[in-house]
Amino acid sequence: MDYAEFIEERIAGIRAAVGDGLAINALSGGVDSSVVTALGHRALGDRLKTVFVDNALMREDEPRRVARMFADMSIPVEIVDARRAFLDALAGLTDPEAKRNAITHTFYKSVFGELVRKSGAKYLLHGTILTDIEETIAGIKRQHNILAQLGIDPQEEYGYRVLEPLETLRKDGVREVARLLGLPAEITDRIPFPGPALAARIVGEVTEARLATVRAATAIVEEELSDTGVFQYMAVLLEDKATGIRDGQREFGQIIVVRAIDSVDAREATVVELPWRTLHRLSARITEIPGVNRCLYDLTPKPPATIEYV
Ligand code: XMP
Repeated sequence: MDYAEFIEERIAGIRAAVGDGLAINALSGGVDSSVVTALGHRALGDRLKTVFVDNALMREDEPRRVARMFADMSIPVEIVDARRAFLDALAGLTDPEAKRNAITHTFYKSVFGELVRKSGAKYLLHGTILTDIEETIAGIKRQHNILAQLGIDPQEEYGYRVLEPLETLRKDGVREVARLLGLPAEITDRIPFPGPALAARIVGEVTEARLATVRAATAIVEEELSDTGVFQYMAVLLEDKATGIRDGQREFGQIIVVRAIDSVDAREATVVELPWRTLHRLSARITEIPGVNRCLYDLTPKPPATIEYV
């Protein structure tokens, strides 16, 4: 495919659809929504409003970091503080599907529905890619094409239409387009990160305190493993606890699992054989996090395990 031609076609398509109206899109900092933001901005300029919804589930400093990267490209991004709405919706939930549903509903029904109504936008630009559509049809992932799966017709419910300019591309194509659009390597080469964010890495209830723990562990894992070139790596907070000793005192503490996998397309994955010294360093640093006294390394490939825990 000629990606330069693809870019021109999509820009023309977005312009033709939106006319002189307004459009809105949500940026997560992942490569798909970043490409949609850059394409949409080229097509519509100020008539595209880009928001970053801070759902309290992000990695350390993520909202400001992503907004800064786009500000450097002269693309304004508004950070919307929706932390309370998400934390309230997740309070008391421990079942994985119930947690995912709470996040989806809060995003589309409460937070984004309200934003679209206030902005007067008639179009939502969405970063759906071909793989998402195929996996939805095959029943592999229930999280994509979220509106349709929730039984929501956006035109009827919120008064906007959805444009999906990347729907014919796979990930490699999206990365190619990202490079041609001049997006920095920090975005084009990012490891996959799930939509439910750190909530996918907390077994059991998602609370501010537990988010702080998994966020700190995630920062350590990403720092230690970023130059390994592996497909994906993460930290997970378990619901179980274990006995340990800290400062000579018995402590019934929390357990963090480190997972590092190689994969081509995330459908199957093998465990990375990290060097012992890397594992030791991870364990030493992670058990410095207050309340965490054990660090485990996950040896399970996919299948039988999935990549995420929730
Ligand atoms: P699983 O856990 O299903 O993950 O083996 C496969 C790949 O998909 C990512 N993943 C998600 N991505 N929304 C996303 O955008 C989600 O809800 C979601 N769940 C999993 C995961 O990080 C892995 O790369």
